[in-house]
Amino acid sequence: MANKGKLIVFEGTDGSGKSTQMKLLGKYLKGKGIVCYSTHEPTDSPFGALLRACLTGRIETDERAIAALFAADRIDHITNSVNGILKKLEEGVTVLCDRYYFSSFAYNGGFVPLEWVISLNEPAMKLLRPDLTIFLDLPVEESMKRVARRGETERYETAEKQRRIRDKYFDVFRRFEDAEKVAVIRSEEDKELTQRNVRRVVDALFGGEA
Ligand code: TYD
Repeated sequence: MANKGKLIVFEGTDGSGKSTQMKLLGKYLKGKGIVCYSTHEPTDSPFGALLRACLTGRIETDERAIAALFAADRIDHITNSVNGILKKLEEGVTVLCDRYYFSSFAYNGGFVPLEWVISLNEPAMKLLRPDLTIFLDLPVEESMKRVARRGETERYETAEKQRRIRDKYFDVFRRFEDAEKVAVIRSEEDKELTQRNVRRVVDALFGGEA
């Protein structure tokens, strides 16, 4: 029987480089002979499809419905008997997941009461806590510089929103610091440097032998 796989979650504000860093980490772990499965939330399931339709405004709905849908998508993502995360971990596969319940707290907790979002996510927290959450931290000023260089303007509102989301992440990291293992890694301009820092914390998780 294979050892259980590990769950490594990537979190961050928009544009923090999660997907790039997750891809690079996947390649690194595979190179070390660690079997990996990469996934994301919202998922590609019907729950996730519904969420994307809500997020793009194709479906008009209430923020409470969105928060509840994210929690439902997550429970299915964990428990699905075909391709759920628990099944993968049992098979000895290491799972890399782009966003998990901290996204709900930081994003949805800004629109509906945080306590309610936390209680919606209690089943997920009981079912499966990540072995490691990597928060790619992009200070809002940096994010604005990157956006400006790309020639996009009039993002002030977005900057305010990103600031609120980032602050909320740090609030909930503090709140759950006894139960959760979170590594805050600065999202550097140099992707390779960020990746070296990501690998350092992941190597430590695998007892230095990843
Ligand atoms: P996505 O297109 O995957 O963006 P990103 O590349 O930034 O991950 O859309 C995910 C959006 O959904 C993102 O704005 C964050 C939001 N979100 C929530 O509001 N709550 C959640 O629980 C999750 C997982 C994501």
